[in-house]
Amino acid sequence: MFKGLKPIIYGGREVWPVIEGGKGVSATNHASSGAWAAAGGIGTVSAVNADSYDENGNVVPQIYHGRTRGDRHQELIRYAIDGGVEQVRRAYEIAGGQGAININVLWEMGGAQPILHGILEQTRGMVAGVTCGAGMPYKLSEIAAQYNVNYLPIVSSARAFRALWKRAYHKYADLMAAVVYEDPWLAGGHNGLSNAEDPRVPQDPYPRVAALRETMRAEGVSESVQIVMAGGVWYLRDWENWIDNPELGAISFQFGTRPLLTQESPIPQGWKDELTKIAPGDVLLHKFSPTGFYSSAVRNPFLRSLEARSQRQIPFSTEMAGEHTAQLDCGVKGKNFWVTPTDLQHARRWDAQGFTTALKTPDNTLVFCTPEERAEIRKDQTDCMGCLSHCAFSAWKDHDNFSTGYLADPRSFCIQKALQNIAHGEDVDKNLMFAGHAAYNFGTDPFYSNGFVPTVKQLVDRILTGD
Ligand SMILES: Cc1cc2nc3c(=O)[nH]c(=O)nc-3n(C[C@H](O)[C@H](O)[C@H](O)COP(=O)(O)O)c2cc1C
Ligand code: SF4
Repeated sequence: MFKGLKPIIYGGREVWPVIEGGKGVSATNHASSGAWAAAGGIGTVSAVNADSYDENGNVVPQIYHGRTRGDRHQELIRYAIDGGVEQVRRAYEIAGGQGAININVLWEMGGAQPILHGILEQTRGMVAGVTCGAGMPYKLSEIAAQYNVNYLPIVSSARAFRALWKRAYHKYADLMAAVVYEDPWLAGGHNGLSNAEDPRVPQDPYPRVAALRETMRAEGVSESVQIVMAGGVWYLRDWENWIDNPELGAISFQFGTRPLLTQESPIPQGWKDELTKIAPGDVLLHKFSPTGFYSSAVRNPFLRSLEARSQRQIPFSTEMAGEHTAQLDCGVKGKNFWVTPTDLQHARRWDAQGFTTALKTPDNTLVFCTPEERAEIRKDQTDCMGCLSHCAFSAWKDHDNFSTGYLADPRSFCIQKALQNIAHGEDVDKNLMFAGHAAYNFGTDPFYSNGFVPTVKQLVDRILTGD
């Protein structure tokens, strides 16, 4: 056992302070989280569009029949509730009374509240807590209280925590079991960088977590409430001075990327094969997600194509004005596109390279695409099933008039499609591969040498040694 590491009381029993971070879509499920709990830790079922199964045990493909986005959104909610309930039931069984099972939702996912109610209603007594980030989930505490489960907000700064606490969480203090600090420069998946923070200038997590504890103390939050450090955690020996440290108080550790490579990890073999090839610097913190949040993923051909598309971008005016003195003669129909003379040359070059069609963005710019890319963008936008509360890519909104009021943004992509695809065995090069910035350790950590893939139990045991 690593020095100073002690079990904590959570969900009414002793568990190790090591947590499997929830990963959507279907990158943590019953198999991984049940095994993590069985190994004595806290496993997290992803309740983000989780898989359900038919009577033969095969994954039910999430196919949508509704003619409008609103109808498909309702289908999505039903799939999500069915899937979440099924995953929790199976995980609970695998856990066999050991450890604890949490569920994870994204606050900005479409239908987050009905999905959370639907799952918690049908899994009473099985879920120890709900982890939730991506947005400001003020209502999380109230919903958790209705089902008497713990809630564990995921924040990336002391300031975000203070706002949540002051407005809502102080009313349900006893159910707030932990506050997850997810480091916005290190963690895989969506990242909570604020406007004041520079994605290129990472900050040391220690003073940020110390500030979080200071804020919690100032607000009167009990010392028994854990802070969960998430993002870039690989070897606990690197975090030695965080354990038993009075300044930080009770601390647990969350692992998101490392548990991707286990026997029970539900991700397809093709994705697992890529993990050991990730080199330092291959994970990109970027802003292509249609949620509008930053996120971290492997810079694979899919991400590179989004980067390249955004680079083939020029501002325009609808009339001659300022420096926009040249009339665009490629990529667009009509004469009302004025650009700078230099950009006209860029546009002509892209056109000659096959990027013959220009799409408008909400920022009064044009991006140049091939006709095939354009067709795919339009099809994905048309097929939208409303998986987010606000989607920059399709302009979908899950309430009021169902539109964000902004132009659909062709620089983004359908994250629902890209994550469902990669989780269900489609080409890893053409879809989104979320990963944390410590993922290169797969290639250097001797634990994985000679292609060794641990069981979850072997991984948890290894983590508990400090390695
Ligand atoms: C593939 C992948 C998917 C993720 N999906 C989610 C998610 O749906 N919800 C969430 O709150 N966090 C998500 N995360 C974040 C993890 O739960 C965890 O906090 C994070 O990965 C920790 O940092 P690490 O990647 O450095 O271990 C995801 C991370 C990865 C790598
Ligand atoms: S277009 Fe946006 S809201 Fe619609 S399914 Fe795709 S990611 Fe979700």
